[in-house]
Amino acid sequence: MTANNQSSFNPGKGTGEPVGVAVLGMGTVGTDVIRLMSENAEHFTHRIGGPLELKGVAVSDLSKERPGVDRDLLTDDARSLITRDDVDVVVEVIGGIDYPRELVLAALNAGKSVVTANKALVAAHADELAEAADAAGVDLYFEAAVAAAIPVVGMLRRSLAGDQINRIFGIVNGTTNYILDAMTSTGADYDDALAEATRLGYAEADPTADVEGHDAASKAAIMASLGFHTRVKFDDVHCEGITQITADDIEAAKKAGYVIKLLAICERITDSVGDESVSARVHPTLIPEAHPLASVNESYNAIYVDAEAAGSLMFYGNGAGGAPTASAVLGDLVGAARNKVHGGRAPGENTYAELPLTPFGDVPTRYHIDMSVVDRAGVLADLSARFSRKGISLRTVRQEEQERHSHARLIVVTHQARESDLQDIVKELSELDDVQEITSVIRLDG
Ligand code: HSE
Repeated sequence: MTANNQSSFNPGKGTGEPVGVAVLGMGTVGTDVIRLMSENAEHFTHRIGGPLELKGVAVSDLSKERPGVDRDLLTDDARSLITRDDVDVVVEVIGGIDYPRELVLAALNAGKSVVTANKALVAAHADELAEAADAAGVDLYFEAAVAAAIPVVGMLRRSLAGDQINRIFGIVNGTTNYILDAMTSTGADYDDALAEATRLGYAEADPTADVEGHDAASKAAIMASLGFHTRVKFDDVHCEGITQITADDIEAAKKAGYVIKLLAICERITDSVGDESVSARVHPTLIPEAHPLASVNESYNAIYVDAEAAGSLMFYGNGAGGAPTASAVLGDLVGAARNKVHGGRAPGENTYAELPLTPFGDVPTRYHIDMSVVDRAGVLADLSARFSRKGISLRTVRQEEQERHSHARLIVVTHQARESDLQDIVKELSELDDVQEITSVIRLDG
């Protein structure tokens, strides 16, 4: 970025006073934050009404080379840095939970606004952090915690604050989307696709948080809390990862016209007597090939929002990486700095609605059940009767011959039913002599 009008400083109503910034952590994101802060300094001065001044960078290893940052700014004493008088805004890009929680709380309690990219921290401790920010009258921003620069948090906090959100769902983890896409496009099995994702740098050396769905669950908790004005924590999110998805599942999905995606689904559920509750869940989900989310490939993210007045909105882009995450952090930093200069605060957390959480068993969903059954007269009729007795309606039933002629492959897609009824029927079927094996059970959406 170059400023067109470099000679005339236009601070708006700003005082031109500098805003002191401390950055905690200098990994991929922290490095890009510092680089872009310096490259775009003049623009930020105009946008804020005073210059951003980097006062210090807390790192764990002072001996490491840190190109792009003045050595005098480096410190390994984060606790002292955040309470310094010349620091107004603290940017936390360390990761983890306990240590950043301590630092962020200390910064807020010392009257510093905080910008964090830390989804695990926000999803686990939002109440405590929001209370500390409110008590000190400072800002707590975390746009980068959900899907990097895709403006999900700002959209839920600000843009749709005048609407009622009914559903937020989408692909919020790039690593698992890359793996599932590779399995779909090459026929690779899970282990090979994960190995390739690791080799290309998409998956971390320890991919647990991504492949077990924890990263997506943190994001779901944040989105549900903001969207439904109700506190939803990481532990409230039902979470299943992608480690059990096989090449056969992908192939069967393809044959039936679906693709498998790891979806985060946050929805307002209204029961038969009109009572509302909130569900947040993450699990592998079959979606029709024609659904726009089906063509979100590689490590891209996409989020759909259904709102009462706005209708359906879709957001798409890079949900991870140094520069996209730094872009979100810098957007927040400009906002927090502007508030320091001009006064005022960012829209805070508001959990006034306090909707109850929907028990997972009550969530309405649909199942795709793939099984091997004994191929003889009456078996199909018996199985359909069992579904019917549970009040579960079948949408499609497909039968395929198997190599063993005594058995047939049966693929059943249900209409919407309660999760617990669907779980019960799967258990009942698995105990029947006529059902040799239930090969896979995957939920279906869209
Ligand atoms: N590891 C995440 C992903 C990015 O793969 O999308 C950070 O949340």
